[in-house]
Amino acid sequence: MEKIKIFAEILVYKNVDELTEADKKLMEQAVAIREMAYAPYSHFRVGAALLLDNGMVVTGNNQENAAYPSGMCAERVAIWAAGAQYPDNKILKMAITARSEHHKLEQPIPPCGACRQAIAEYEIKQDKNIEIFFMGEIGKVYKANSLHDLLPLIFDSSSL
Ligand code: THU
Repeated sequence: MEKIKIFAEILVYKNVDELTEADKKLMEQAVAIREMAYAPYSHFRVGAALLLDNGMVVTGNNQENAAYPSGMCAERVAIWAAGAQYPDNKILKMAITARSEHHKLEQPIPPCGACRQAIAEYEIKQDKNIEIFFMGEIGKVYKANSLHDLLPLIFDSSSL
C-alpha cells in the first residue's frame, strides 16, 4: 500500500479590494450578471465572468427550470457561451460570486462538482490554466491558479 498526498493551493484575499484593479473589475462583472440570474426556485443567484485572451469578457448566470434538473449553473452557462462564441480563444480567468435571498453569504462559494468537470475540459482543451476567483456576496475571495487545485484526479479523455 502506498499513500498519495495531493497538494492544492488557494490564495485568500480579505475582500475584493485586495484584488488587482483588473481582477476586481472582472468580479464586478460577475456581480452584475449574478443579479440578472433566473433563480425563482432556489433564490440563490450565481454570476460568472470569464476573461478571454482576446480581452473579451463572457458572462453567465444560473438559469433555473420548474423541472429542476433542467436548470443550469452560472459557470457552465458562461463557459459554454465562451466555447460557442470564441472557440479558438483561451480563457484566462473566471470570477464567480453567489448571493442568497435567504441569508448573507459571507464565505466564498466554490463551483459545484459538475461545473469543475466542465471547467476542466476547457483547461485541458486550451492547454492553459484558468485562474478561478470565487466569493459569496461579501467578504473573502478565494483564488485557485488552476482548476487542478479544485479538482484533483481529473477524469479526462485520456481514459476513453
Ligand atoms: N449554482 C450555480 O449556478 N453554480 C454552482 O456552482 C452551484 C449552484 C446554482 C444552481 C441553482 O440554480 C442554484 O445555484 C442553487 O443550487
